[in-house]
Amino acid sequence: MVHYRPYPLLLTELLNNFNSSRNWVNFVLGSKLNLRAEFSMRLDTERLTLREFTLNDLDAFAALMADPEVMRFSLSGPMKDKEQAREYLQKRILDHYTQYGYGLYAVIHKADNCLAGLVGLISQNIDGEKKTELGYRLHPKYWGQGFATEACLAIRGHAFGKLGIDELISIIDPQNKRSLEVAKRIGMHPWKEAIFHNILVQIYALKSPGGNQHQYG
Ligand SMILES: CC(C)(COP(=O)(O)OP(=O)(O)OC[C@H]1O[C@@H](n2cnc3c(N)ncnc32)[C@H](O)[C@@H]1OP(=O)(O)O)[C@@H](O)C(=O)NCCC(=O)NCCS
Repeated sequence: MVHYRPYPLLLTELLNNFNSSRNWVNFVLGSKLNLRAEFSMRLDTERLTLREFTLNDLDAFAALMADPEVMRFSLSGPMKDKEQAREYLQKRILDHYTQYGYGLYAVIHKADNCLAGLVGLISQNIDGEKKTELGYRLHPKYWGQGFATEACLAIRGHAFGKLGIDELISIIDPQNKRSLEVAKRIGMHPWKEAIFHNILVQIYALKSPGGNQHQYG
């Protein structure tokens, strides 16, 4: 049998627990932080952990984004310094989580616990249409071992499953053979060519198996 205590007693206990303004502040901040931690995205694959970036990743992130091989086919080239990396991390990754509920994630190689790269979802505008891009970028040390494919398959499942996204695209420089291969390996099809930030790109696309199928090409 459940015994309910009278309401005024509960109220008194609550007030006693929060008897200073500092406790109230901690309570509110703590709830927010706990909620953020609870909903923070994390996926485990056989060899990788995919998780949200934080500013604590800045050093490793800056080193990755300064690598000429990693950034060879990026629009802006290798990052010049830590400040540029910090701005990108904040505006293009952390703020994207807040705005869309998803974004680019840190790829942690389980065997060495190091940041191997980034993979995830970016909101893009292609020829005036809003699309969700599946993006991927790994340090060359981790190329040729199937890590990009492993990470992208996990993100594909997350996007079509939990997030309910109905289509993913990848925007690829036609010279970027390794990236084209990843797109094909994860089931994407060539959709169309487009001019993206003044560069001719190949767009690959994949519809969610649960959504309406359409023909590419
Ligand atoms: C694009 C990029 C992520 C591709 O990396 P990758 O290592 O070639 O891709 P995968 O992880 O799918 O690995 C495939 C290779 O691993 C091999 N492999 C080994 N084990 C494997 C496994 N379990 N599963 C799949 N492939 C495996 C494949 O045979 C293939 O070998 P190959 O390189 O000799 O053809 C990488 O080149 C990169 O980060 N480039 C710079 C950033 C960039 O251009 N990003 C894309 C922007 S659009």
